[in-house]
Amino acid sequence: MSGNKNGRGQAEIMEEKMKAIVYTEYGPPDVLKLKEVEKPVPRDNEILVRVHAASVNYGDILARNFKEISPRKFNMPLLFWVFAKLLFGVRKPKTTILGNEFAGEVEAAGKAVKRFKVGDPVFGYRGQSMGAYAEYLCMPENGAVAIKPAAMSEEEAAVAPYGAIMALYLLRKQDIRPGQKVLVNGASGGIGSAAVQLARHYGAEVTGVCGAPGQDYVKSLGADKVVDYGKEDFTNSGEIYDLIFDILGKSSFSRCKNSLSPNGRYLRASFKTRELWQMLWTAMKGGKRVICLLAPGNLEDLLSVRELIEVGKIKTIVDRRFPLAQAVEAHRYVELGQKKGSVAIIVEERR
Ligand SMILES: NC(=O)c1ccc[n+]([C@@H]2O[C@H](COP(=O)([O-])OP(=O)(O)OC[C@H]3O[C@@H](n4cnc5c(N)ncnc54)[C@H](OP(=O)(O)O)[C@@H]3O)[C@@H](O)[C@H]2O)c1
Repeated sequence: MSGNKNGRGQAEIMEEKMKAIVYTEYGPPDVLKLKEVEKPVPRDNEILVRVHAASVNYGDILARNFKEISPRKFNMPLLFWVFAKLLFGVRKPKTTILGNEFAGEVEAAGKAVKRFKVGDPVFGYRGQSMGAYAEYLCMPENGAVAIKPAAMSEEEAAVAPYGAIMALYLLRKQDIRPGQKVLVNGASGGIGSAAVQLARHYGAEVTGVCGAPGQDYVKSLGADKVVDYGKEDFTNSGEIYDLIFDILGKSSFSRCKNSLSPNGRYLRASFKTRELWQMLWTAMKGGKRVICLLAPGNLEDLLSVRELIEVGKIKTIVDRRFPLAQAVEAHRYVELGQKKGSVAIIVEERR
């Protein structure tokens, strides 16, 4: 057998396989298949993480189904859609393993890695690189990966990073003061559930808006009031808010204007070119403002999220857990729109 620079034979290297959920075509949940693929090898600046849990969130559903997402259906400006199309793959997915957040354990570390050692429990966010529906993944040590909060189980930690780092980045720029009134439109989702908790942490009185299934869940996150968008339009309630955080952009500035205080802000996590113009115009005019922001999803924010988790300011609730082999069922369940919390994919049970 011929050796290589690690002193291992070619046949041995070839044998290093792992299980992963792979999709090679866009479409419904059934496109997700359990397969054996090559196990990744960490570079000098990377850690190899043995994944214990991942999640099914907005990004996974969007990426799996991207062929159906026209510029109109896409929640961002046309140019972003073009970039996303090139990034995800025009006809078929370029990145074939989904999963943008995870918790697991460091299995190996490249020789330049200083922040982690073998055996460290970690959690992290991979953004569009995805890859967490697999037994192993590699993360650069300066990527969005950190020691898992001790206060959380692995599955709770696996569903935390995405929503919390997005909500934290967008909300901490808003200077929310104690006693202010904040409305979160989309409060039961990944970003919204963290936004409700963060706004409460900043001392605001919080109203959460979501569908009927999520009402109790949003209350359990600390919302002072919960509105069912199927029964009531919050813009007709006569309530006035200092901040309306519209996550999916289901409302609009023109509809929310009368529900904003004189210097109130209408914050969008997803926006089109129209909202960008509104942001520019309202910034010049003063008074009620539109704000559109993109979060980078970086290590700094993940570390802040970990601190907030450790002091009990952010929690996650796992509604359902599915083993890796049942990723199809997990995606189907999320698409039903009935979840009351997050959905975790358990890649490997802790022994
Ligand atoms: N700005 C950034 O940096 C950034 C980063 C990542 C993502 N995003 C954007 O964030 C959005 C995804 O957020 P997410 O992950 O939190 O989504 P998500 O987990 O799918 O949650 C969506 C939320 O919206 C609610 N909702 C659905 N229809 C609604 C309606 N008509 N009125 C009010 N609420 C409604 C849902 O409630 P029910 O489940 O009860 O229907 C749920 O609470 C996308 O638009 C994405 O583009 C922005």
